[in-house]
Amino acid sequence: QGGKLVVVGSMNMDCMINVSNIPTDGETIRSSSIVMLPGGKGANQAVGAGKLGGQVYMIGRLGNDSDGKEIYNSLLNSGVKTDGVVFDDSIPTGKAYINVAADGKSTIVIYSGANEKLDNAQIKQFEHLLDDAKYCLLNLEISEQTAAYAIKKCKKKNVEVILKPSSVEKISDSLLNNIDYFIPNEKELKQLIPDDTSIEEKAEALLKKGVKNVIVTLGEKGCYLRNEKYSMYFPAADFHPVDTTGAADAFISALAVCLSEENDIIYSICFATYAAGISITRQGVQPAMVDRVGLDIYKEDINALYMN
Ligand code: RIB
Repeated sequence: QGGKLVVVGSMNMDCMINVSNIPTDGETIRSSSIVMLPGGKGANQAVGAGKLGGQVYMIGRLGNDSDGKEIYNSLLNSGVKTDGVVFDDSIPTGKAYINVAADGKSTIVIYSGANEKLDNAQIKQFEHLLDDAKYCLLNLEISEQTAAYAIKKCKKKNVEVILKPSSVEKISDSLLNNIDYFIPNEKELKQLIPDDTSIEEKAEALLKKGVKNVIVTLGEKGCYLRNEKYSMYFPAADFHPVDTTGAADAFISALAVCLSEENDIIYSICFATYAAGISITRQGVQPAMVDRVGLDIYKEDINALYMN
């Protein structure tokens, strides 16, 4: 088993609304089906890592309601240690309303709920979970202030930080300076650096701010890695998309597990590429995450991508 992983992030109940197309301004459409499934970037990443055999702990906040209990059980069933999860009586569990179109593409609206109550006091209460951890997986569906506090604790304990920004327009330089792996998608990158520069130039700008590795996830186009040594594109794995929601969470969890097993960054990206690829062939996020046996079937493809 690889090194210890700690996830500090959001947990939502996902309301997956299947539609023929994503509605535009003024358009009203019918949904063919609606499914409620446990989600949230933090819980997804924890479940993804747990299913792949990672040693993973979750720090996050749920409402004391049936959605919260379902998400909690999903974590447990995936082997995630839930010591750092708190049920809050004062606010409901976070929710996400997700339109999934027939081509598998999706849009998400979130209601933060209990996620916004994940505060410095809770991080302090569970900071011992970071002892001996290798990586901490964070996202900004929790408050940036809490994330910054968790990152400060990580740096003190020599834990490397993996950050998925989510939709934010600004991240302070002091926070970026402490990020080891910054993993936005193309939209999130553009939102942070809204000028006309290319992906490569934006990644370069982030390196100048102290980020050690930038990995931009590009959906069907794969991903782009930039660090001191590499400026490199990776193709996506060739799978038929049913629901692309949370593919980046599948990618990030697999990347963290693979890195925690002492693999290099290039191999870890190849491994994560296949975990993300498999996840888009099934509906939902957590139920769509592949386990270790399922991913091992693609070992030769992963190696072939690595050797390319
Ligand atoms: O990344 C996908 C996730 O984003 C969904 O599960 C939803 O809850 C939002 O957090």
